Amino acid sequence: MTNFAKNILCIGAGYVGGPTMAMIAHKCPQYKVTVVDINHEKIAQWNSDRLPVYEPGLDEIVRAARGRNLFFETDVERCVREASIIFVAVNTPTKAYGAGAGMAADLQYWEKTARQIREAADSPKIVIEKCTIPVKTALAMEKILSSAYGSVRFDVISNPEFLAEGTAMRDLEFPDRVLVGSRETGQGLKARREVVDIYANWVPRERIIESSIWSSELSKLVANAFLAQRISSINAVSALCEKTDADVREVARAIGLDSRLGSRFLNASVGFGGSCFKKDILNLVYLCRSYGLSEVADYWEGVVKINEYQKERFVLTMLSAMFNTLAGKRIALFGFAFKADTGDTRDTPALCIAKSLVEERAEVVVTDPKALENARADLAGVERVAYEIDPYKAARGCDAIAVMTEWKLYAELDYERIYASMAKPAFIFDGRNILDHERLFEIGFNVFSIGKTPMAHA
Ligand code: NAD
Ligand code: UGA
Repeated sequence: MTNFAKNILCIGAGYVGGPTMAMIAHKCPQYKVTVVDINHEKIAQWNSDRLPVYEPGLDEIVRAARGRNLFFETDVERCVREASIIFVAVNTPTKAYGAGAGMAADLQYWEKTARQIREAADSPKIVIEKCTIPVKTALAMEKILSSAYGSVRFDVISNPEFLAEGTAMRDLEFPDRVLVGSRETGQGLKARREVVDIYANWVPRERIIESSIWSSELSKLVANAFLAQRISSINAVSALCEKTDADVREVARAIGLDSRLGSRFLNASVGFGGSCFKKDILNLVYLCRSYGLSEVADYWEGVVKINEYQKERFVLTMLSAMFNTLAGKRIALFGFAFKADTGDTRDTPALCIAKSLVEERAEVVVTDPKALENARADLAGVERVAYEIDPYKAARGCDAIAVMTEWKLYAELDYERIYASMAKPAFIFDGRNILDHERLFEIGFNVFSIGKTPMAHA
């Protein structure tokens, strides 16, 4: 049997646990890395040729490390006993019940994990918060862990994950920064160093930053809030552009070249989606309210409100452009994933748009290169929705196309061919501003994009 320098465990084999541990195993062949999950089906998929998560570059790394120093398992108790360093990457969704419903983080999964660790551990463990949680959660984790009858020592570390889906492997290999927070006691600092040492195998030391545990926990929520705030800011401006003949892409370019602002995350869109932005901001809002900071809470809540407004606005634009009725009209949704290069559809704007269109009695055809299976599950029971992998077939006979996801392939389609196959007048609503609008107008489409005066034929 190989003797590994460290025995690392991750509880939770989702979008974060799987790719993050695959990267550690890839970069550190001297460590044994195990990922455990209560979902047996998911673990079977991780052990198969069809991984449960689609990320460019992930398959290759998993294939090379699996069975060598990367293992996917279901026996949580045994895995906890064997590991000395335990990452916790379980889900922390928005609470759907009781106090704080619709706002607070639902901490039942991580709390259960803390109890599982406490019950199974018979030697010291470093327990790492990888999931996104409210600031001060480590305190609760420490209390649960230290209420064991035995004398096992636990050190809780905060090491939030900043990867974005679709670019997860690149983000993990070349992170802007890795953040490790701990208690600032002798023992806390020692545990912090152990975690820093793992990343130091491939991340330049100056990119590994250390802080108090509370700053680390809070930084994760604040990072997501700032990113989402930029999108809501440019989306708010897009509404004004549409009223004033300005072009939001030109405005974004002009402000983004100011080095104090930077050019990234200024793409106006149909709205941000994904499992985290909305949930993490609502969590931040709830925290602020619970500390009596209502003005601060209102400020951040505005980011989510603008996002909802942007999605509603998109459907209203479609409705008014198409002569105030969508009943019986066929509309192809180009893309269902919440962003390109992922099959993830959690909180995707496409879901909300699809449902609104169906409420208007439209016939919806969904196409997406990676997310059709999830789209089917998300829209189960919703009538008047069809699914088609081929965008050309999806658009055939349609009155309109609405681009929901910025998949590169949608910018490269033959729109003359598509136009010829559609009902007339034909409309395109580009919810991601990825198409060549002038060219589409020349072909004959009525073109509606985000933050730009519509181009409609008389
Ligand atoms: P996910 O739902 O994809 O995966 C979570 C996994 O944890 C599930 O497979 C679930 O079965 C498992 N799990 C739950 N309770 C368990 C238990 N007691 N024992 C073993 N396994 C258990 O979630 P995710 O997207 O990977 O997110 C995990 C955390 O990371 C969240 O807090 C999220 O906010 C944060 N995060 C996510 C991303 C992202 O891009 N998805 C990025 C950064 C941070
Ligand atoms: C986001 C953050 O970028 C990660 O740093 C963070 O770790 C992660 O949340 C998390 O905590 O889960 P992710 O949601 O995977 O990552 O993807 P993003 O690239 O941030 O995109 C989020 C949404 O915003 C997508 O719907 C995307 O299309 C949209 N977006 C992004 C815009 O509408 N405009 C932009 O300019 C950028």
